[in-house]
Amino acid sequence: MDDYHSYTNRLFRKWAPFYDLFTMPLSRVRDKVVDLVDAEKDSKILDVCTGTGKQSFAFGKRGYSVIGIDLSEDMLKIAKRKNRYENVRFMIANAGNIPFEDNYFDVSCISFGLHDMPHDIRERVLDELKRVSKKIVIIDYNIPKNRLHRVLHVSIASLYESKYYKDFAERDLKELLRQHNLKVIKETFGLIDFVRILVCENVR
Ligand SMILES: C[S@@+](CC[C@H](N)C(=O)[O-])C[C@H]1O[C@@H](n2cnc3c(N)ncnc32)[C@H](O)[C@@H]1O
Repeated sequence: MDDYHSYTNRLFRKWAPFYDLFTMPLSRVRDKVVDLVDAEKDSKILDVCTGTGKQSFAFGKRGYSVIGIDLSEDMLKIAKRKNRYENVRFMIANAGNIPFEDNYFDVSCISFGLHDMPHDIRERVLDELKRVSKKIVIIDYNIPKNRLHRVLHVSIASLYESKYYKDFAERDLKELLRQHNLKVIKETFGLIDFVRILVCENVR
């Protein structure tokens, strides 16, 4: 656990200054997520693994009340510096141990976070997301189904992604969601089909 936390902090300390530039092509995906979720006015949104806060801001500019949490102080420093919204707040917190009571949020969201953690933590994070909200949104790479394409995709992504990425890519995300009683109620793709957006409901 300590190894994972310090690895994550070290990795994102290096990434923080370039992260927004590198992820600029995802800008329209952020708005697409908000449209797909279509949360009611005044909804409370949790954005875990918020990083530099881009998905939080996409919700925030539509008037939702948003809390973004992350382990990395360096990423959060950038999110806080950019924040122009009174309805968006950021705090250091672990997605595997979310410091809010059950069902505190209407929607919880994890964008490009599940691939940056070991599998046992990934499972814990899904349970935490379910605990704090009924609706859960997952945004992550759409891993190619074709074996050759997948091998190519993983080889390229592994050049810049965390050491946990390969494990994420080898697993079936939808199967993982099923195991956690998360029912996919909406699904779409972004950046052609590079990104997958899944809106899920807790079915238990
Ligand atoms: C690839 S970035 C994604 C940032 C942002 N959500 C986005 O879509 O651009 C992954 C983020 O997850 C954070 N992270 C990884 N494990 C975490 C955990 N257990 N709790 C909170 N944040 C975590 C990292 O610090 C990093 O900022």
